[in-house]
Amino acid sequence: MHKADGEPQNLRFIDLFCGIGGFHVAAKIVCAERGVVPLCVFSSDIDSDAQRAYEANFGVKPRGDITKIPASDIPCHDLLFAGFPCQPFSICGEMKGFEDARGTLFFDIARILAEKRPRAFVLENVKLLANHNRGATLRRILEVLEGLGYCVHYRVLNALNFGLPQKRERIFIVGFRESVAFQFPAGGVPMRPLAELLEEDVSDYYLASEKIRQSRLEKYAGARPRETTLWHENKSGHISAYPYSCALRAGASYNYLLLNGERRLTEREMLRLQGFPDTYKIVCSYGATRKQAGNSVATPCVAAVLRSVLTALDNEDG
Ligand SMILES: C[S@@+](CC[C@H](N)C(=O)[O-])C[C@H]1O[C@@H](n2cnc3c(N)ncnc32)[C@H](O)[C@@H]1O
Repeated sequence: MHKADGEPQNLRFIDLFCGIGGFHVAAKIVCAERGVVPLCVFSSDIDSDAQRAYEANFGVKPRGDITKIPASDIPCHDLLFAGFPCQPFSICGEMKGFEDARGTLFFDIARILAEKRPRAFVLENVKLLANHNRGATLRRILEVLEGLGYCVHYRVLNALNFGLPQKRERIFIVGFRESVAFQFPAGGVPMRPLAELLEEDVSDYYLASEKIRQSRLEKYAGARPRETTLWHENKSGHISAYPYSCALRAGASYNYLLLNGERRLTEREMLRLQGFPDTYKIVCSYGATRKQAGNSVATPCVAAVLRSVLTALDNEDG
């Protein structure tokens, strides 16, 4: 990290596959806690709606396709963040992994790490990456990162353990240029009640059709719960109701999650389920925001990982 005499310390980071900026939100929160100035020196996302949302919120328009950007165009930085595309490893995608061109985007991260050599990185992906191709995909990723001289740690974390009413299990892969004492955060943060995240006076636009509501009731074998629940329909059409949300997903059907079996979540509610503050500006359509929220990260989870990363780096400095 950089500090001129008398100046506050800066944290220079890059945000690859930045989407709507879940890593950026987390970096701002953690830096504010530590009196450090967060400086995003480069961001990239190929999706024009995501670029628009990112620019509206952080004042900088992300560059486009990372495969077309030479590492020499990217400024030096302390930390690299990348929630790289998960469809190739996700159960809802075809699980083709490195055979899918999107799976090979990992090698763009490796290319940038090799040239820029930041002090640390945080990567995020779906939990299934850990078992994809019977563990071979993750082993290859770890081999590549270690081959670049990084000390690498990984763990699956669940947003439910970091205060959010969303069951979202994601693998975090963290690496350090130097060998440092690093521990993943333990979690254990009590879950905020789902009801606290809901908007009042939600318009009929979000209401599921009468037919869908009726079919939900018929399919749901349990009694209608008295507390606020999110009803989740799995691939085989089975309905379950939980006092928290199942993982938001970019490509799920509009009726995948219905509040009390009746209405869809609003844009703001979806962002709250990922821990975004209400100051986050919503500038895209319902459909685009829904996709963006599903693609994004649970920001309290990222913030907790980042705190542990910065503590490890501080100890190294000390
Ligand atoms: C899992 S999402 C990451 C979301 C992000 N972490 C957030 O907080 O919103 C992956 C992102 O990679 C982007 N992407 C896919 N291919 C890309 C490419 N070739 N270059 C840059 N971005 C790409 C997608 O548009 C998507 O927004």
